[in-house]
Parts: sequence; structure tokens; C-alpha cells
Amino acid sequence: MTTNAPKSIIVIFGATGDLANRKLYPSIYRLYRTGKLSEDFAVVGVARRPLTNDEFQNNVKQSVNHFQDQEVDHDTFASHFHYHPFDVTDIKSYQKLNTLLNTLEDEYHTEGNRIFYLAMAPNFFGTIAANLKSEGLTTTHGWKRLVIEKPFGHDFESAKELNDQLRQAFTEDQIYRIDHYLGKEMVQNIEVIRFANAMFEPLWNNQFISNIQITSSEILGVEDRGRYYESSGALRDMVQNHMLQMMALLAMEPPIKLTTDEIRSEKVKVLRALKPITEDEVDNYFVRGQYDRGIVNGEEVNGYRDSNSVDPSSNTETFVSGKLIINNFRWAGVPFYIRTGKRMKQKSTEIIIQFKDLPMNLYYDKGENIHPNLLVIRIQPDEGVTLHLNAKKGDFGSTSTPIKLNYNNDSKDKMNTPEAYEFLLYDCMRGDSTNFTHWDEVALSWKYVDVISNAWNNKSASQFPNYESGSNGPKDSDALLQKDGFHWWAVSQEE
Ligand code: BG6
Repeated sequence: MTTNAPKSIIVIFGATGDLANRKLYPSIYRLYRTGKLSEDFAVVGVARRPLTNDEFQNNVKQSVNHFQDQEVDHDTFASHFHYHPFDVTDIKSYQKLNTLLNTLEDEYHTEGNRIFYLAMAPNFFGTIAANLKSEGLTTTHGWKRLVIEKPFGHDFESAKELNDQLRQAFTEDQIYRIDHYLGKEMVQNIEVIRFANAMFEPLWNNQFISNIQITSSEILGVEDRGRYYESSGALRDMVQNHMLQMMALLAMEPPIKLTTDEIRSEKVKVLRALKPITEDEVDNYFVRGQYDRGIVNGEEVNGYRDSNSVDPSSNTETFVSGKLIINNFRWAGVPFYIRTGKRMKQKSTEIIIQFKDLPMNLYYDKGENIHPNLLVIRIQPDEGVTLHLNAKKGDFGSTSTPIKLNYNNDSKDKMNTPEAYEFLLYDCMRGDSTNFTHWDEVALSWKYVDVISNAWNNKSASQFPNYESGSNGPKDSDALLQKDGFHWWAVSQEE
């Protein structure tokens, strides 16, 4: 184990929930396995359900039992986990939790360092933060951090109210707002590709780039999240956070240094430069969709309106595509197209940078099919970078053919490539908040998105459902690009 591994207690609110079991415990395990966590760590699981420590530890072992490493004893790993049945509204629960934390701090030598991770429904975020403070849990001799899952509010006003509540108990520096896309290996790679290669940055502007496309499509529908999704829709669920964050990383200026503050301040500038649209203009820039029944993987599937806890005449969008205009010197005139949807043809997140054509291309004159140069950053499921070029066809003429330079990030070490939550938890323990969203980013994103949701709320979507499950979304989404003379690239489908 490394000697400078961070020491802390992680208190997980929502310890019996899906996120904790599917993402957090496996991530803590992987950190432990690779020595990123010292033996001096403890996890306190907090939830309503009355579980014993043994039952809780068994749940944790269950969630990591697919890892079969000789060197890690699952019982020893699980022994770091403790359970505390909890009522978020009862002050006594907090007092007892504090006593438990004080005892565990002595046992595990965690030096008073505490992470409070809110992995639960957001209704109680404000209450929990206030009670943590009033009952003295945040008065610790070590550091304290609050990790908070999305949704961070429902619109700008509610996000601000929540932020104000949190700020009563934690400073901005102590608040780690999760956007799990920022923990993805290839999203983090955007900065390296841009700022560590002499060949891209000089071209990274409106002189050489014609448009940028960011797509995140899913095959799954809303499954059992109908209740949450009805009040969210794809706009709040994906665009306000993940899509705008990827856009900001692609568009930001090189920071002066790779520090948290410098990077965040460049991202904030991009969000500030987003051309505001009015409610009346929304239809010119954004398309909404809702999936109908269809065929996915050879099986017939239901439409969104037939899902559990969904209104049979719901207006909620399960698909959004849009055109973002960044009004600054670098990007004026370059549309950033975004597209995200459920129940689409494939699970894929990718970014396509389409370069402008040469002012004069000799091969066009020969009537050849010249492919524009594309830089494709493949975020998931396969990770990598592909550069689409034109090269000579292997024959006697001087004809050209599209070729691809491909880098696949599927190292033999794939098993050890950290997952998003693993990166993010570790960053939080080390006090690095670069890959978490600052309040200024959240606020600007909501303000942008609120105009669109207001426009959509005020006008029912009479055309819903408007795309078949298993398709590429509604036709209007194709038309959005066609009117600018572009089309969506579906490059990973071609591979
Ligand atoms: C979450 C959304 O933030 O991101 C989900 O709430 C969505 O609706 C998920 O399915 C997609 O994440 P990923 O990592 O699978 O692309």
C-alpha cells in the first residue's frame, strides 16, 4: 500500500441504494485493491433501513464479488464498512452518527477527515447539510467535504436555493458536485488531446473547424425511473450537465495552468459566451423527441408512455438535439450540435470534430468522393481517438480514398483502467475538485436550459411520440443540421 494514500471516513447517505451498490462500493474496492486507499479508511453507510453491520458488510461483499483478486481478502475489505440506521429529519440520528465517527476516527487514524456523500433523492440535501452543521459533524479537526449527486436542482431557482442551503454548512471549496461524465477517461482526455498536441490546437477554431457534434445515445429506456424522469426529461437529465460539460471542455481556451481554478474559469467563460436564445427561438435551435414502441435487439419494446409511473399522455422528452452557438472570437460561426436520447439504435458517446474542406482540393476536380477530415473522440463504449484522412487508393491512378488512423484505448490493462466513480472518489479524497462542477457552471447551465424547458412546458408536444425505439431519433433532428448544410456523422456505426 502506498504511504501517502489519503486517509478519511466516507459517510454514504443512501448506502442501501442502487448507486452505492453498483458504483460506489466497487469503486472503493478498486481503490483499495490498487493501494490508493490506505488501511486507514472507513465507510459508514447511512440509510433508513434497520440493518446490522454484518448484513451491511454482506451487501458490500455482494456488490464486489465479481472481483476475484488473490491479494484482496473480501472480509478484510468489508470490515472497513459500518452501518448506521438513520432518519434524516431526526437530530438524534446525527448526534449518534457523530459519536460513531469519533470512535471510528480513533480506530482508523483518519485524522478527522470526513467525506459526506449524498447518494440519495435530493429532497433532503438541504436538511442534511444543515443538520450536519448544527449537530457538530462538520466541526472536525481534519478536512470535511460534501459530495453531492445530481440532480442539482430542477431549474436555476431551485438550484440556487439548494446551493444557498449547502453553503450555510460548507464552503464552495468543500462542495464536490458530481458530474460522472467528468470522471470518464476519454472525457478527461479531451484536454490532453487538445493541449498536448502541436497539430490540433492551431486548427482548433473557426478558421479550420466547420462544426462539432457531441452525441450520447442509449439503448435502454427509462426502465424503472419513470417517476424521476417524468419531472426531468432528457434536457435536465443529460443536457444541463453532461452535454454542456463536454461542450465546455471542447470549446474552452487553454488555461494558464492545469489547476482547478484556471480550468474551471475557462469553462465558465464558454458557458458565458453561449448565445442566449429566447423562448420564441427555441424551435430554431432545439428538437425534442419521445420514443415510441419499436424493435431493440430483435425484441419488441414499449413506448415511453407505456412505462411504469409515466403519464400515458406525457409530454416529457426522452431525446434532445440542439445547436449551440458560442459567441466568442474562436468559435463565432461554428455550430456545436448536441444530441442525446434513450432507446436509440446504439449505446455510444462520441465527439466528432469536422474540419473545413480545403479552399481548393485537386481531388474534387477529379470528381472524387473526398471525405472531410474528422477527429473522432470515442468516449464509450469503446474508448479511443480516430482521425479520418484521405490517402491514395492502392491502384495505378492518383485517386484518393478515405482512411482512418485509429487509437483504441483498450490496453491489456483494461481491467485496471479506473472507472468514472473511482477517479472522482479518489480526486475528492485528495482534495482535487477539477473534475467536479463549480456553482458558477451549474448556474449558467441552468439559466441556458431553463429557457428551453419553459418554451417546451408552454407548448404541448403534439407530435409525441415521434421516434421509434431503436432508431436514431426524430427526423426533425436530421433537419436541424440539414438546414446548415451538415448531417450527423454516425462513424462508430460504420466501424
Ligand atoms: C445519468 C442519467 O446521469 O447518465 C441517466 O441520469 C443516464 O438517465 C446516464 O442513463 C448515462 O450515463 P452513461 O455513463 O451510461 O453514459
